[in-house]
Amino acid sequence: MKNLLFPFLLFTTTVLNAQNPSLPLIPQPVSVQRGSGTYTLPKAAIIAYDGAEAGRVAEILTQKMSLPTGYAIKAQSGKTGAIQLKLNAAPNAQLGKEGYTLNVSPKGVVIAANDPAGLFYGAQTLLQLLPKEIEGKAVTQTAWIIPTVSITDYPRFGWRGVMLDVSRNFFPKEDVKRYIDQLARLKYNTFHWHLTDDNGWRIEIKALPKLTSVGAWRVPRSGHFGDRADPKPGEAATDGGFYTQDDIREIVRYAQERHVTIVPEIDVPGHSMAALAAYPELSCTKQAVTVNPGTPFSEWYGNGTFKMKVENTLNPSDENVYTFLDQVFTEVAALFPSPYIHVGGDECYKGYWAQDPGCQELMKKLNIRHVEDLQGYFMNRVEKILTAKGKKFLGWDEILEGGISPTATVMSWRGVKGGIEAAHLGHDVVMTPTTFAYLDYNQGEPTIDPPIYAGLRVSKSYSFEPVPEGVEAKYILGGQGNLWTEQIPNLRYAEYMSYPRVWALSEVYWSPKEAKNWEAFVPRLEAHFDRADVAGINYSKAVYDAIVKTTAKDGKLTLALESEVPGLDLFYTTDDTMPDDHSLKYAQPVVLPDGPITLRVVSYRSGKPIGHLITLKRAELERRAGQ
Ligand code: ACM
Repeated sequence: MKNLLFPFLLFTTTVLNAQNPSLPLIPQPVSVQRGSGTYTLPKAAIIAYDGAEAGRVAEILTQKMSLPTGYAIKAQSGKTGAIQLKLNAAPNAQLGKEGYTLNVSPKGVVIAANDPAGLFYGAQTLLQLLPKEIEGKAVTQTAWIIPTVSITDYPRFGWRGVMLDVSRNFFPKEDVKRYIDQLARLKYNTFHWHLTDDNGWRIEIKALPKLTSVGAWRVPRSGHFGDRADPKPGEAATDGGFYTQDDIREIVRYAQERHVTIVPEIDVPGHSMAALAAYPELSCTKQAVTVNPGTPFSEWYGNGTFKMKVENTLNPSDENVYTFLDQVFTEVAALFPSPYIHVGGDECYKGYWAQDPGCQELMKKLNIRHVEDLQGYFMNRVEKILTAKGKKFLGWDEILEGGISPTATVMSWRGVKGGIEAAHLGHDVVMTPTTFAYLDYNQGEPTIDPPIYAGLRVSKSYSFEPVPEGVEAKYILGGQGNLWTEQIPNLRYAEYMSYPRVWALSEVYWSPKEAKNWEAFVPRLEAHFDRADVAGINYSKAVYDAIVKTTAKDGKLTLALESEVPGLDLFYTTDDTMPDDHSLKYAQPVVLPDGPITLRVVSYRSGKPIGHLITLKRAELERRAGQ
């Protein structure tokens, strides 16, 4: 009987503990066994480690803990200390390369792993077990107490990434490091660095100096991206910046110390206007262009098709283009230890290729009927260049169009469709669909959130399942969130768009599928709000706002309110007064009064206002109902 019950008890305690809000761990570990005691950090704590690589983890932990505690914490080679980092003499197969065990007893803390990456992730979990004040940058008087616990943890996926676009807006070196550090704290292991696009070339290429002397700079403009004014004749291009090769090496080292691989992206053959501003001879028209400051240079037709009013593509029929790419990728390959280089391949407009005599001749020679298929030719040439430099070819899902080699890895962004198709063809896939993982989309009520054409709430990101039905899991390397920065001019804004969705996605990519539970995630999410407040990290609180929906029938509008966080009270008015907790309390769908009303909604929890005020006039309520 005892033997029969034991696994059941183990299971229930794990599940209950996993949902215990007092352990604010994100991503949720595989197994958490709570003890009843605590461990108090001593004022002079030694972090003991064995081996140089474990020593680097001990150093980072020492830095993070010394400042807020004000304690004399010291990393020291050896086997005894308040906190021990141990590399397993005999590998624990369950843990793999990135897993760890973490034991906190009243006597101290032991983190064990097969590999330094696992020690690093165990250290991140330990930091999350400490009081939130550990996130601070000044000495704080608090009880530095850790609950006793036994954790076994390892990731579900090997590719856990976030992409940052530094072309649309330039982010200085220190900002990039801060962002990478934040990702590493969430156990992300991949930073996809979108280094080139129409709006700025950000990486120094010594053989091609104009890429940065010209391509990194554009005329200063503000306002909505896509509606900005063209450069005036003779106007100075003063907005931008780039990373020198020394900067890149420094950032790569910084990321390596945090067990983050940087995957650089050079986006070709489309999205290349910054490169063409420097070297216009590489396009079909060879016309001079400027680095684009966000003008209406493209027209979109709603079904994914579009037209570029200004040429931004490399000419696939020009051998000089491949010489150029060889020069670029020689230097990129030498700078980044990543096995992968991302070559873009997305949103390549073929209109200028179709008009070009060189492209037409090449199509004849290759026996290609559709100009679209020239992209396949181009991409195959690029893959050969990468292979010669010992790098793996990775691109957005458009690389499937026109045929690619079986060794290509596909990043599925236009939904999961491209990823499913690629996996069925035997390609490795990284899932990063707009529908769950696009961090440039707003995350709350669109009338008060940053203006952008689409929305994605954190609960939707959290619900993402990266392995679609009918796809062999072995082809799905993992997933990413993507932060495009057309509308994002600085790091604080980038953080606001990233969080909390990046926290939610960390759990999607790290934690067991079975451990995912939105209601159990919410208290941990809120604990991380508190921790981000201490750390000075910006994030969106849209999760507390009402979700306002309307439907229309027989000339009447019906209002439906929801919230992502359970248990909020939603109060509203239609009489032009500000709502409070004496206003109408939403319980079920209600028919709204006729006439030119204004709806105002606010959320409360336990008698206190918690969400933003949402104010919607009748025209917007009708638009929302599809009127
Ligand atoms: C993309 O969002 N253009 C990959």
